[in-house]
Parts: sequence; C-alpha cells; structure tokens
Amino acid sequence: MILLTGATGYIGSHTWLALLAAGHRVLGVDDFSNSSPRVLERLRTLAGEEPRFERANVADAAAVEGLFARHPIRAVVHFAALKAVADSTRRPLAYYANNLGGLLSVCQAMQRHDCRSLVFSSSATVYGRPERLPIREDAPLAATNPYGSTKLMGEQILRDLQASEPGWALACLRYFNPVGAHESGLIGEDPRGTPNNLMPYVAQVAIGRRPQLQVFGNDYATHDGTGVRDYLHVCDLADGHVAALRHLLDARESITVNLGTGKGHSVLEVVRAYAEASGRPVPYTFAPRRAGDVDACYADATLARERLHWQARHGLPRMCEDSWRWQRNNPQGFEA
Ligand SMILES: NC(=O)c1ccc[n+]([C@@H]2O[C@H](COP(=O)([O-])OP(=O)(O)OC[C@H]3O[C@@H](n4cnc5c(N)ncnc54)[C@H](O)[C@@H]3O)[C@@H](O)[C@H]2O)c1
Repeated sequence: MILLTGATGYIGSHTWLALLAAGHRVLGVDDFSNSSPRVLERLRTLAGEEPRFERANVADAAAVEGLFARHPIRAVVHFAALKAVADSTRRPLAYYANNLGGLLSVCQAMQRHDCRSLVFSSSATVYGRPERLPIREDAPLAATNPYGSTKLMGEQILRDLQASEPGWALACLRYFNPVGAHESGLIGEDPRGTPNNLMPYVAQVAIGRRPQLQVFGNDYATHDGTGVRDYLHVCDLADGHVAALRHLLDARESITVNLGTGKGHSVLEVVRAYAEASGRPVPYTFAPRRAGDVDACYADATLARERLHWQARHGLPRMCEDSWRWQRNNPQGFEA
C-alpha cells in the first residue's frame, strides 16, 4: 500500500487517481487545512471504488505512527505542506513546523517500520534566481523565502538520511508550474481566497468572479516583456510521481529530478491561450513588477526523460481547456 499525504490537495488528488490507474493500493491522508472533504466523493466517482482515507495531521508524530501500525505501507508519496510564498514570509514558524515537522514524523515512522521508499514534493523554487536557462538539477540552490527554505531543508534532510543509511530510496521531485485539471472536470485546483498563481486567477477572470488580471511587469527580458514560466499539466505531473515511485521500488536508487515540460510560456501567452480555450475575454492591465519575481524560469527536462522515462505530454492549449472545464463546471470550486 502507498501512503499519500496531502492526498485531497490539488496535486495529491490527481496523483491518487494516477496511482490507482497504475494498479497501486493507496491510503490517502490529509487534515483538510487546504482542501475539501468533497474531493473524496469526486475520487469515488472517478475511481469507481471507495477511497481509503484517514484524516490526520502529518506533523503529529503519534498520528503518523498509528497509520503505519494499522496499514502495510511500503512507500510514501509526501505532498502535505503549506505552500503560499507570501503567507510563509508572514508566518515562517508555521511553515517550518508544518512542512519540516511533517517530513520528520513521516521519515521517523518509516524508519521504525522499515519502509524506505519516499517521494518528496520539492519545487523549482529551490533554484532561487536561476543563473542559466534551462535549469539543470546541478544548478546552484538558494531559498528566497521561508516556503522555499522548507523545500531546500527538506531535500537536505533526505540527503543526510540517505548518507546515514544507504537502504533508503528517495526521490526529490522539483516541480515547475502545475496547472490544468483532470479531463473529467470533477477535480481541479480550488484555491482559498485570492489565487496566488496565474492560471487559477485567469480562470476566475474568465468565469466573471474577478473583473480583470493584473500582469506584474511588462519590462522583463522576455520576448513580450512578461514573465516566462514552465507550465505543466497536473495529470502529467501525477504520472511523473508514478514513474518516480516505479524507479524507487524497482531500481532502489535515489534521484533528484526536475518535473517540467522544458518549455516556457509568457503571461500574455497564457492569457491568450485561456481566452481561446474558454471563448471568454480575459481583460488585464499592467502593474509594476513584484519583488522577487524572475524574468524566466523553465526546466531542463532531460534527466526525467532519461532516468524516469517520463515526459510531459500535454501542451498549453490542453492545460487551458482542462482548467476551463473544471472552472466552468465548478464556478465556486468544491464548496458550490
Ligand atoms: N502547486 C504548486 O504550484 C507547487 C509547486 C511546487 C511544489 N509544490 C508542492 O507540492 C505539494 C502539493 O501541492 P498542492 O499544490 O497540491 O497543494 P495543496 O495545498 O492543494 O495540497 C496540499 C495538501 O496537504 C494538506 N496538508 C497540509 N499540511 C498538512 C498536514 N500537516 N497534515 C495533513 N495534511 C496537510 C492540505 O490540506 C492540502 O490538501 C506541496 O508540498 C507543495 O509545496 C506545489
């Protein structure tokens, strides 16, 4: 059985389906601090079976120990974390306690139960301000905010663990910008409050929940002056987890790898593609740059292709179409 933490979150829910489709038995765990229990109903519909789920806070070591005592867990895919960059600068201790506390209690329980295969959600944020593009895994690392520090420190904890006991098989997956939704339109990203990321914001403008998009910066060193990012379909990302898990279980070899498409798109390209996919206007105005934003950030996706035999399949139009189907069918997200 695979333990999936943060299972009802955006990436977790899509990965849950991908793991079931690959024939794994899955135990999902979440504390619903940033997701809705209604995700479980949608997963039941999509999977055609009752999802195995326990509500727990993974930073609670006793609760995690209980999960391992009750279930035959052979590997863990660990998503559970707080992820809002600006929030992390206001509440750093909450981020360190949750993100590192969660990772530590999971690893300690794994150690006690001789379960040594772990997939960890890292992030392209560990590259700080990239010096060279595309970004390779051996690029210099830096954190520019407390959230990023929790990912950098999380990777360090896993490197130290690996060095202390070679039996571990650990995958640090550095995601670029996950977007889109499951093609059914039944699950997708459901941000609480104002979306922090571009595509959910654009989706809410297209559906009429917000009047317009503010584009932060139009004088970046990119082809149209707006910031360029590596957008990745969340279902491709989910499949990347299945591939990483296969690698850990079969090859018993640790890996740190980018999961991105290797291709960058500007803010204005995303706006145009979304307007096209939705048939709705996406009005925008330009606003000053945000502190800390970089001109461009996209992956060198070679290592994932070579070592995990994984590469992204969906392009930007499909990401926008699937995001729009989810948004249109669920204008208020899961709380409708
Ligand atoms: N979405 C992105 O752009 C992105 C990019 C890079 C990395 N990541 C990482 O991927 C992971 C998943 O991100 P997501 O976008 O699905 O976020 P999300 O907030 O939708 O999902 C995270 C889930 O973890 C749960 N959770 C948080 N703390 C918990 C705890 N202590 N115990 C139990 N459950 C807890 C939340 O309720 C939520 O359901 C996170 O680790 C995030 O940092 C996300």
